[in-house]
Amino acid sequence: MSTQSELFSKSTKLVPGGVHSPVRSFKGLHTTPRFIERADGAYIYDVEGNSYIDFCMSFGPLILGHKNSLVEEELKKALSRGWSYGACEPYSLDLAEYLLSRLPFVDQIRFVNSGTEAVMTALRLARGATKRNKVIKFNGCYHGHVDSMLIKAGSGLAGTSEASSAGVPEGTSQDTLILELGDIEGITQCFKDHAGEIAAIIVEPLPANNGLLVQDKEFLTFLREVTKENDSLLIFDEVISGFRVAFGGMTELTGIIPDIVTYGKIIGGGLPVGAIAAKFDIMQNLAPIGGVYQAGTLSANPLAMVGGLKTLELLDKKSYEALNENTSKIVTLFKKWLKEFNDGQFSDYSVLSHSSLFWIVPGEEINCVNKIPADITEKFNPLFEILLNKGIYLSPNAYEVGFGSLAHDDKLIADLEKRLWS
Ligand SMILES: Cc1ncc(COP(=O)(O)O)c(C=O)c1O
Repeated sequence: MSTQSELFSKSTKLVPGGVHSPVRSFKGLHTTPRFIERADGAYIYDVEGNSYIDFCMSFGPLILGHKNSLVEEELKKALSRGWSYGACEPYSLDLAEYLLSRLPFVDQIRFVNSGTEAVMTALRLARGATKRNKVIKFNGCYHGHVDSMLIKAGSGLAGTSEASSAGVPEGTSQDTLILELGDIEGITQCFKDHAGEIAAIIVEPLPANNGLLVQDKEFLTFLREVTKENDSLLIFDEVISGFRVAFGGMTELTGIIPDIVTYGKIIGGGLPVGAIAAKFDIMQNLAPIGGVYQAGTLSANPLAMVGGLKTLELLDKKSYEALNENTSKIVTLFKKWLKEFNDGQFSDYSVLSHSSLFWIVPGEEINCVNKIPADITEKFNPLFEILLNKGIYLSPNAYEVGFGSLAHDDKLIADLEKRLWS
């Protein structure tokens, strides 16, 4: 088997930057990305035979841990029946029925292939249903690589927006209004400035892609009220928080009901799935009934449907208690280690957490982008490398959160303690 550096050098020739998603690239780090050969429970194993405790967990979908045996069994059965039909099949109905029975705030669901696709559809649906173009997005919330979501606040006049990626047309950025999380005054003003033009507010109700920026319930309640008052829709992007903070995500946890919800990650149990869900009258705007077009060759892929269903069926009240308990023990260990390591080299770090998500960050009380330290990456990179050498794999980027899973149990936590203090 080739070494990781041989594989990375091959990869950079074959693939731009050597990766299929930029966050995997180990950019700015003094080591090559690890090439993972296999995974099991809370561990990943690289091609050179090293094991790591995994806190990236495929960026969130693997709530049960890697390669759960019950999911594997269902997938094997599904595989034996064929893996794509491009036609109606019963498996997506099983998943839809199960989901809708446990998500009382939505009536219908449509499956797509990724969180990005779900967001793209949700935005088109909101625009089609309201016949308006503008959407409010918050600085610090990530919604996938949809053109209209790759927008940042403009450097010119207040309220202007510009693309945060090359290739996004200027016309697209004009319809995305960027505001700061928690900025109630700014949002109120924005609705006045663009009266009758705003189709929706889209928000991660638990922003977890640019650090973990936990929001007050009051702010989310305000978003619900202001959208209602202005006949706009509220989109909760629960691609990360859905099925993680509770089965019904932040919607269930806060009791604040959005008009449209997007899901991804856990809903496919580690296979490529995303979904859009809403009340019946909104969902009826989608083709083939309504005029909002959306389609997909591999949508509701039978393997993904079966993997998703088995994963979700294993999540009950006790699972969430265990997940939160595991994660809180992990957070406690990291906090202790950060204080003690190398005479306090990382003592200015804190570990912010919510349910089974945590963020190791140099700073405290961070709930919006302006409070994130400017030198976060320079500070994070050495920490990441030290942990990697101890066999502990965080997401390789200062802004990414860590994920607990049901496989991060007491035995694993004992191993974490051993590795941290090794
Ligand atoms: C909140 C949120 N929305 C959308 C996406 C995009 O999902 P995907 O990477 O499956 O396209 C992500 C991915 O991290 C996400 O966390």
